[in-house]
Amino acid sequence: MIGIFDSGVGGMTVARTIEQVCPQYPLLYFGDVAHTPYGSKSSETITGYSRRNTEFLLNQGAKVIVVACNSAAATSVDTLRAEYAVPIIDVITATTRKAAEGTVNRRIGIIGTRATVQSGIYEKQIKQLRPACQIYGQACPLLVPLIEEGWLNQRETKMILRRYLTPLRQHQIDTLILGCTHYPLLTHLIQKRIGKRVHIIDSSIETARHLKSFLDNSPEITSTIRKKMQDCPPHHLEKNRFFVSDSTPPLQKLANGIFGRKINLITTHA
Ligand code: DGL
Repeated sequence: MIGIFDSGVGGMTVARTIEQVCPQYPLLYFGDVAHTPYGSKSSETITGYSRRNTEFLLNQGAKVIVVACNSAAATSVDTLRAEYAVPIIDVITATTRKAAEGTVNRRIGIIGTRATVQSGIYEKQIKQLRPACQIYGQACPLLVPLIEEGWLNQRETKMILRRYLTPLRQHQIDTLILGCTHYPLLTHLIQKRIGKRVHIIDSSIETARHLKSFLDNSPEITSTIRKKMQDCPPHHLEKNRFFVSDSTPPLQKLANGIFGRKINLITTHA
């Protein structure tokens, strides 16, 4: 099974794309809603949560872990790789490659949580691939709570986005990385505010493609997943399970909206 975790619903944008790109594999999702947002917490705290999330997914039978949270990937992925003997895919690596290859004027914006932007991970990875790129990071700490609340079209959300995106417009970027898996839920507003010339890179799409190519080249992992699948229900979507550490009515609505079907959220204290 493919284990996916995030601090909340954001990683569901990644899970939805993985469902589309790798429909043959069952998914196990864990959203640590009780501790969201991660991005405003210290690296030590985020690493502690990330360890616990990984262990929960492994105990449920995951054979590969997707860290579908930029804040966790930016602060904790090296620790997870050192401590757990399973493949760990993060949301940053494939996204930086896409941005570095795609920019024409070599001016790239990145929006994310404070933990992600302050880590400098996107800048470091992009510069390794294309040293001449200029990277402009903007922390957007208010967006995750607004999204978790389901405020996807409110006037206040638009005002806050304007405040965050105006400096990036002034830098004349041609590429904008959504460095938080919650942000694809605001793509419609972000594209409008940043301008339609700017190419938006959604880390959920890049990560799902990266995972697919990893699985296509890892027969030893896919055969263990297939063996486990013999116990699964026949219809592929029924075999995906969604765990959360807390549940609220806006969360249920968002989850249903992301997948376009009723999602059965299982509350657990991982
Ligand atoms: N979806 C998470 C990310 O990609 C949000 C992190 C948070 O909870 O702050 O960074």
